[in-house]
Amino acid sequence: MNKAASALEIFFLIIAIDGPAGAGKSTVAKALATRLGFKYVDTGAIYRAVTLKVMNEGLDLEDEEAVCKLIDKTKIELKYVNSKLTVLLDEVDVTVEIRSQSVTNKIFFVSNKASIRSRLIRHQKDCASGVNAVVEGRDIGTVIFPDAEKKFFLNADVNVRAKRRYSELAGNDPAAELNRILEDIKRRDKNDSTRQVAPLMKVEDAISIDTTNLAPEEVVDSICKNLDMK
Ligand code: DC
Repeated sequence: MNKAASALEIFFLIIAIDGPAGAGKSTVAKALATRLGFKYVDTGAIYRAVTLKVMNEGLDLEDEEAVCKLIDKTKIELKYVNSKLTVLLDEVDVTVEIRSQSVTNKIFFVSNKASIRSRLIRHQKDCASGVNAVVEGRDIGTVIFPDAEKKFFLNADVNVRAKRRYSELAGNDPAAELNRILEDIKRRDKNDSTRQVAPLMKVEDAISIDTTNLAPEEVVDSICKNLDMK
């Protein structure tokens, strides 16, 4: 590429936010994206939507090849309108359904398989292509956007994380129970951080933030300070 052409190149900023369930990633990433005027990308929603589709189609979740083929003919869109994320699976709104306990319990079938994860890399990159974006997940700083301008790793005490998840879910699911959610979070922490492919981990150049005693706005302030933005 000559100098003139390279001068025309437009760069978009990616802010990567990783961490375990309930660490505050979604709330913080949404608020940060709103504050900066960036797109918000929730990659967990993509894993959830694929899991829901496999369940709806009655496919064997263990059948990696069949799941990969299904992904190739699946359209997942993340729309963030008026501070609200809408997840469209083949044009159908599945925003609420993908948060159900039955989907959550089965995600690991999808998220632990290397071939499936590599199929989903493109979906995740597409969601953040051509825009400035705040992207949250488990492997954003390590695998999806290793060259992100800034990386953050949020964590919090597990009991606080369970209480946050409970407050989020209770509105939609009257059967939600704090103890069950705590056990689920511990199980998912273990699975996400010990799986062989793209395990949840803090990458060296990520900034750690312990959100246990912080309100979401305080976490956003702390991130903005690190970005040299007010
Ligand atoms: O962020 P969440 O709780 O909605 O994510 C649901 C599951 O999806 C999580 O337990 C692990 C998986 N996931 C993943 O493996 N990689 C990502 N980048 C995002 C989510």
